[in-house]
Amino acid sequence: MSAATRASSGRTKLVAGNWKMHGSLASIDALVSALVAGKKGGAKMLLCAPYPYLKTVADRLAGSDILLGSQDVSTRIGSGAFTGEVSGAMLADVGCRYAIVGHSERRTLFGESDAIVAEKFKAAQQAGLVPILCVGETLDEREAGRTEEVVERQMKAVLDAAGVAAFANAVVAYEPVWAIGTGKTATPEQAQAVHAQIRSMIARQDATIASGLVILYGGSVKGGNAAELFAMEDIDGGLVGGASLDAAEFLKIYDAASAR
Ligand code: PGA
Repeated sequence: MSAATRASSGRTKLVAGNWKMHGSLASIDALVSALVAGKKGGAKMLLCAPYPYLKTVADRLAGSDILLGSQDVSTRIGSGAFTGEVSGAMLADVGCRYAIVGHSERRTLFGESDAIVAEKFKAAQQAGLVPILCVGETLDEREAGRTEEVVERQMKAVLDAAGVAAFANAVVAYEPVWAIGTGKTATPEQAQAVHAQIRSMIARQDATIASGLVILYGGSVKGGNAAELFAMEDIDGGLVGGASLDAAEFLKIYDAASAR
């Protein structure tokens, strides 16, 4: 199958920037202005900003079709005595449409279990946000031949808790932990194999939901490697960390997605 044939999935490509704990009001202002001015293609662009900057970014994005998201969400629904937590409803209130859940940094540095990630996935949806569920193996797990088993376990935790129908309104991001922020990207073939596994897991329960599911690749996506990744059948865009802080580089990635 040629790359061109493979790309005809019918799914709109999505390129999401995950700014992590980076930036300042001044730097974010400059970045968003450059992205608003530079976004020309037909793929979707999403910016996941740190909490304190969400409203500012939302205001700057008014009149543009660039989407806003958060990097996390509370497991707690509604309001209450949960010091430090930010609810999905609050995120939706300030203009977020998406929320990243289960990023590997949350899982490994902040102790989020599969069960907590599943709660966050459900809490995001309950607030009307589209969860971007991150899954992926560590280097040790890959080298031990356990990639498939780890991704299966992470997906199953959410599938069991939320049900397959919830995936009609969700995004999955495959982010091999060894590729995040390391400059080591998974090869298009390595990523494609896991993306296909994720899609077939969903397809076992619902083929229509599986074929519509947007599955992003994340882990050292750059302007120089985006096109070959996005050419793969089951790679529907990227979740981009480091390169999303540089407008020109992020636009290159975005343009690669729009060209598919
Ligand atoms: P990276 O991060 O692009 O800097 O590797 C990706 C991510 O953590 O989402």
